Amino acid sequence: MKILIFETSKLAAARAARQIVECVRPKPACVLGFATGGTMPPVYRHLAKAYAEGHVSFASAVTFNLDEYVGLAPDHACSYHHFMAQELFDLTDFAPEHINLPHGDAPDPTAEAARYEALIKAKGPIDLQLLGIGGNGHIGFNEPTSSIGSRTRIKTLTKATRDANQKYFGDGEDPPQYAITVGIQTILESREIVLLATGAAKAPAVAEMVEGAISASCPATALQLHPNATIILDQAAAINLKLREYYFLVHPNGKEISLA
Ligand code: PGA
Repeated sequence: MKILIFETSKLAAARAARQIVECVRPKPACVLGFATGGTMPPVYRHLAKAYAEGHVSFASAVTFNLDEYVGLAPDHACSYHHFMAQELFDLTDFAPEHINLPHGDAPDPTAEAARYEALIKAKGPIDLQLLGIGGNGHIGFNEPTSSIGSRTRIKTLTKATRDANQKYFGDGEDPPQYAITVGIQTILESREIVLLATGAAKAPAVAEMVEGAISASCPATALQLHPNATIILDQAAAINLKLREYYFLVHPNGKEISLA
């Protein structure tokens, strides 16, 4: 794992966005895996700015989002379809026919999960998968005890996850109990992984992901198995890492050191 620790969450988000732009520029028809959640809008603002300033075009890129709530139609204000349209797709030139998310309102969610997994297989592999991490160590909606060999499927959300996402729902509406999420094995088959975590609330999960034993109890620990995973943190999210001085020595302020 490459651990990059930045002074601020702004710098961390900018670094994650830069890696996405650097993936797209030499390979315009690349396949990108996107994530939702409160950590991601700053990254997407950087991508929208890079597009607006003419530094990059996303017109040929194919996208796959990690997950969607079961029962929410794409036009529901709390759906991840809606989130992505608002935060990124409507602000850039991603082509609607290249954008993929699971359909939360599919009549048979299990069949929809299988369709989505097959589509990733057909159009993939994903060149770069962007990830956040839950306070409980989930990636996508792979909650603790998800199999490291899992594929796209229905997951029951934990109370902790539903509580964390309650703020996005209106009064009297709770986050759905179920979601369609790509699996951990599906994520691990991406060529490159970029996980962004900012803020003190993520510090325990980040420490477990990087320095804990690989275990389904903390799904993000599965990323230790990936040969090309970059973990981008701000100081607050890095605070519980035992070897954080070492990571900072390897990449001071998140920079690459040239030995040439
Ligand atoms: P957050 O969610 O960005 O809203 O903290 C991350 C996640 O649950 O994966």
